[in-house]
Amino acid sequence: MSDASSSALPAFTRTAHPAPVPGETRAEAIADPKFGTLFTDHMVVVDYHADKGGWHHASLEPRQPIPLDPASSVLHYAQEIFEGMKAYKHPDGSLALFRPEANAQRYNASARRMAMPELPEDLFIESLRQLLAADKDWFPTAEGATIYLRPFMFASEAFLGVRPAREYKHVVIASPAGPYFKSGHKAVKIWVSQDYVRAAPGGTGAAKTGGNYAASLVPLAEGTEKGCDQTVFLDAVEHKYVEELGGMNLFFVMDDGSVVTPPLTGTILPGITRDSLIQLLRDEGLSVREDPYTIDQWREDATSGRLVETMACGTAAVVTAVGTVLGPEGEFTIGSGGTGQLTQKMRDVLTGIQNGTRPDPHGWVMKL
Ligand code: PLP
Ligand code: COI
Repeated sequence: MSDASSSALPAFTRTAHPAPVPGETRAEAIADPKFGTLFTDHMVVVDYHADKGGWHHASLEPRQPIPLDPASSVLHYAQEIFEGMKAYKHPDGSLALFRPEANAQRYNASARRMAMPELPEDLFIESLRQLLAADKDWFPTAEGATIYLRPFMFASEAFLGVRPAREYKHVVIASPAGPYFKSGHKAVKIWVSQDYVRAAPGGTGAAKTGGNYAASLVPLAEGTEKGCDQTVFLDAVEHKYVEELGGMNLFFVMDDGSVVTPPLTGTILPGITRDSLIQLLRDEGLSVREDPYTIDQWREDATSGRLVETMACGTAAVVTAVGTVLGPEGEFTIGSGGTGQLTQKMRDVLTGIQNGTRPDPHGWVMKL
């Protein structure tokens, strides 16, 4: 495994795309992109080989298919991790990242859990810089749109034995993106998964690894069939504690101004938006507890009016209200079923910091 604090980084070789998307076509594409369907001209690839000194070759190159041996471990045993982050355009036209070192650290936490090599944090951040420098003209012009960055690492060694691979690739692609939900930023409807769990104690729930998302697809599709936008998972042992959505953490806002969010017990993803919101809510003078919260309590509190809002948060979805929950005992509505005051406020505060239109009291923004 490489040392994550190592400073001997491979220098990037740079190959410009020989036939980039023409300016006019690009301008049309970035005028109103959807989430996750449009990609920029370039990508970053960094190669790891246990026998070649670890991370040894880094390149910025045209975005293109990646040749893979059919025996590559990732295709068989799913040794893969990823991150999700965004670039933001500030009023002065410069680009910025939000807490990228937190993503780099989580990438390495995921890598350790999946028996993969850690990537030096400065190489992680340099790989984002290289790609954004090459593809900054892809920044979408639509209001509120961003460039979504997807760093990922996978086992590329051709070997069918079951053991940690000795070869990996770290790749970064960029996607000009609009809102994650089709409805934009309107309150969403959530399906409570009853037959399936996402993660069990001792499993990989706290790692950002593809298998967790694969496990969420059937319950997600179930929810979609029932007219829901996302699925919420309960704990795997007692089937009663609310954990998180397939791609977002949750906050429950009470009528006395207190806020509860499920604790990081190893089965949920430690969201960077979650961590930021805990801080920002405390900055507002609110009390935030990281406490278990059951599905029965959620329904009871929503029905009695003690619970006034529920926020879903993540890089892709930012801060979105949960309006309705469809569970084993039927449907319940939170507040008016729309976006509550605190959800709207926290969305404004967080996006204001990210977009450079509000002060950044915690030093979270990294200007590029
Ligand atoms: N939970 C899951 C399962 C996720 O995939 C994500 C998205 O990355 C989150 C929570 C939110 O994490 P973050 O705020 O770091 O984007
Ligand atoms: C994100 O918010 O970045 C995510 O990864 C959620 C989803 C798109 C997987």
